[in-house]
Amino acid sequence: MKSYSKVFLQTLTMSIAVLLASSQLFAAEKRCTAQGKKVECPVQSDKALLAAQEAYEKEATDMAEGKAGSTYGIAPFDYLTGVGKRTEGTTLSEGDSGYGDSSTGRTELWDRVANASEGEAIYNQWTNNWSPSFDETLVAGADPNEGKQWYYVYCITCHGWTLQGDGPSALAIDPKPRILTAGNKYMNQKTNLELFTAIKGGGEAVSLSSSMPAWGNFLMDQDIWNIVAWIRAMSDVGQPKSIEEYLNPKSSYQMSASDVNPLNVKENEDFLDAQEMMEIDLGGRGGGALVGGGYVEGGLRKKPEDVADKVGKKY
Ligand code: HEC
Repeated sequence: MKSYSKVFLQTLTMSIAVLLASSQLFAAEKRCTAQGKKVECPVQSDKALLAAQEAYEKEATDMAEGKAGSTYGIAPFDYLTGVGKRTEGTTLSEGDSGYGDSSTGRTELWDRVANASEGEAIYNQWTNNWSPSFDETLVAGADPNEGKQWYYVYCITCHGWTLQGDGPSALAIDPKPRILTAGNKYMNQKTNLELFTAIKGGGEAVSLSSSMPAWGNFLMDQDIWNIVAWIRAMSDVGQPKSIEEYLNPKSSYQMSASDVNPLNVKENEDFLDAQEMMEIDLGGRGGGALVGGGYVEGGLRKKPEDVADKVGKKY
């Protein structure tokens, strides 16, 4: 009888937690799994997120007032990525960071779309000035340097510039975006496939919340693999205390030969079946360029085979 009421209570508690999805109760629940155990998901406190949001807002305001300006007037993008930042006190025509032609109002992003390979190269150069770059990969066939670029475009608004789960949108989201660098405590327990599936199919694809959107309609499979390699490379960076620390991350992730990766997916029937199922739910997939299961030519994308040569070696 006792155990029945315990089960009943547990069920009741869980239902309440689900009902109150937007409340604190939900955040404290042990919904995440690490080393086979249910754990509290690694997220920032509301207090930390409020401080982060205020810092972002201050930077955006400063830019709008020309104090530490966005070079091309796209503050919402620039203040998140650090791309195209102008030195304090300079003007658009004098002393700005030098990319593009201010008279045409062109931006890094504009060129990236208009001229994929050239724009990407310039964009990469910019973001590389402000972010770590890697000589090796921890996921065979995937390139962390490429993944980083996509992360900066699509993920920082929630997961934050340094992957600490503290982007400017994070405070408003429940459950909170994951700290993606909680390596030994959490992220290293996840298989490549779990991370790949969470990113491609969104939280719901791995029994998490739909607050984590599905990216399979925006990113090709190889892009997603590259992001997995980036997350692996940053696995235990922690809140960096200096820009040098952030630029020289040491990963605690141990590569597993048996784990699925872009080089062995093609022989993995389970993986391919799972992709087919997931892509049925992804309305934008199918027929177009975003074909599942691997590499699509374009921009500066490397073939997985070319990246694989670099595993454990210098690029
Ligand atoms: C709109 C906010 C938002 C954006 C944008 C976003 N995420 Fe998330 N992400 C979340 C939230 C919220 C969770 C946690 C879901 C939960 O706890 O149920 C999450 C969870 C994850 C997880 C799952 C970790 C685990 O516990 O298994 C991964 C991996 C991840 N995000 C990667 C990314 C990547 C890569 C991008 C960009 C392509 C991205 N996210 C963009 C909100 C976001």
